[in-house]
Amino acid sequence: MPFINVIRGEAIPTAPFNVRTPVVRLPVWLVMFWSAVKGLAWMVIGYFRFWWITLPSSGLLWMYAAFDWQGPTFTVLGVAVAATIWNLGNRASFLRFGWYPILARFRRWTYRRHWQAAMVTAKLSVSYDGQTVLPVLQRVRCRPGTDLVLVRMVTGQIPDDFGHVSERLAHTFGVRQVKAMPGPTFSTVLLAVLRGDPLVKLVPPFPVTGVPDFMALPVARQEDGEVFDLRLFGTQVLVVGATGAGKGSVIWSIVRALAGGVGTGLVRLWGLDPKGGMELGIGLPLFDRFASKDFAAQADLLEAAAAETQRRAARLMGRTRQHVPSLGEPLIVLVIDELANLTAYLTDRHLKDRIKAALGIVLTQGRAVGVHVVACLQDPRKEVLPARGLFPTRIALRLSESNEVDLVLGDGMRDRGALCDRISETAPGVGYVALDGDPTPMRVRFSYLTDDEIRDMADIYGRVQVIDGDAA
Ligand SMILES: Nc1ncnc2c1ncn2[C@@H]1O[C@H](COP(=O)(O)OP(=O)(O)OP(=O)(O)O)[C@@H](O)[C@H]1O
Ligand SMILES: [Mg+2]
Repeated sequence: MPFINVIRGEAIPTAPFNVRTPVVRLPVWLVMFWSAVKGLAWMVIGYFRFWWITLPSSGLLWMYAAFDWQGPTFTVLGVAVAATIWNLGNRASFLRFGWYPILARFRRWTYRRHWQAAMVTAKLSVSYDGQTVLPVLQRVRCRPGTDLVLVRMVTGQIPDDFGHVSERLAHTFGVRQVKAMPGPTFSTVLLAVLRGDPLVKLVPPFPVTGVPDFMALPVARQEDGEVFDLRLFGTQVLVVGATGAGKGSVIWSIVRALAGGVGTGLVRLWGLDPKGGMELGIGLPLFDRFASKDFAAQADLLEAAAAETQRRAARLMGRTRQHVPSLGEPLIVLVIDELANLTAYLTDRHLKDRIKAALGIVLTQGRAVGVHVVACLQDPRKEVLPARGLFPTRIALRLSESNEVDLVLGDGMRDRGALCDRISETAPGVGYVALDGDPTPMRVRFSYLTDDEIRDMADIYGRVQVIDGDAA
């Protein structure tokens, strides 16, 4: 039985209270007048809200009224010529201040059209008290191949909620990929919507600098078009990728960035190529020491590196935090192709223990004293490389399984956009890296050196070297 009965037609006598809503009779002209006022207000609001389309259109209309068809035609032509000259004269400023703001307006409008459907199907809308609350699309900015969409989250949401459904969002918006990262305020999330792919093309080798900048070695192209600089000082580098993923190109990109220093003696490369010298052998003259077929020789080389690390550490103890390479005490970079051959797949227990101990010393103490490791690996599982955590810098190329991504790059990185298992086999050298101070991974493609380019580089910068074991 209803407690209060609102009477719109007949009274229900069983309700204790009966309330009758007043019936107001309006004349037809008043209703029409009110509708007209409302319509006009909407038009004025719409005019100012979409000023970027309404203002130019009314300008053109006014031109037409004042000067006939010549008015709008010459205006459009004038703007097109000015834009072309600006574009040719200074493309960067044209894109930034001319083209991208217009594009962003247009894109914002397209996102708004799909917004509700996208939020509801991705389960990012929240139903509360019979009402549906949607995250708010706040701002859209365009960058080369990328839109940055700022979204105010519904209370209780976190950026990772968007990260989990990023793939769904990408398909809804019809784009290649969506990456979610924390926005400038705690209540916002920034969605990087990636459209085109600048990494389809091969990346040619970067020019060699006389003195390498060990804080920023140019080795790859980022998907936003910038150059990815690898920091070598203070770190150890692990490169993981399935077979054919392009680990070789990572090695040679790094070696090339160091080649100037190899030529002057500031950098010494020690090569370990357990696959019999197949990868590193082409650039043999670049290596100061080299071991490939003989595992005992490779263990010796690692022990020599460990001994040098400990000698330097003892000398520098208490004096400095970061070793500065010099001709007397150069930067030593151990380049290891397929580390698992030295750690997991080696059957000789004694050798395996020697290698493990020496590697442990270099990895834990080497980075402060100028002894660095750049190691490649196919399989990132713990059984294969227990010391994975000792490599602060990790590069993930194409991987065979999605759960390997977080093993290499760290927890949650796949959700944040590192789709290493989705990298095409036709795109070797493409991978994901973590940038300093950025929680989201960056997709990059490493430069590719042909065998001839490697040989040329070795001819120019190579030095007379000691060959350990039987490589020669
Ligand atoms: N950065 C790159 N750009 C374009 N092509 C590349 C790149 N890197 C590698 N490739 C091509 O992919 C092929 C395989 O690459 P690479 O030998 O480096 O793979 P890998 O990861 O070392 O594999 P494996 O573990 O089997 O040794 C190369 O022969 C080369 O043609
Ligand atoms: Mg290889």
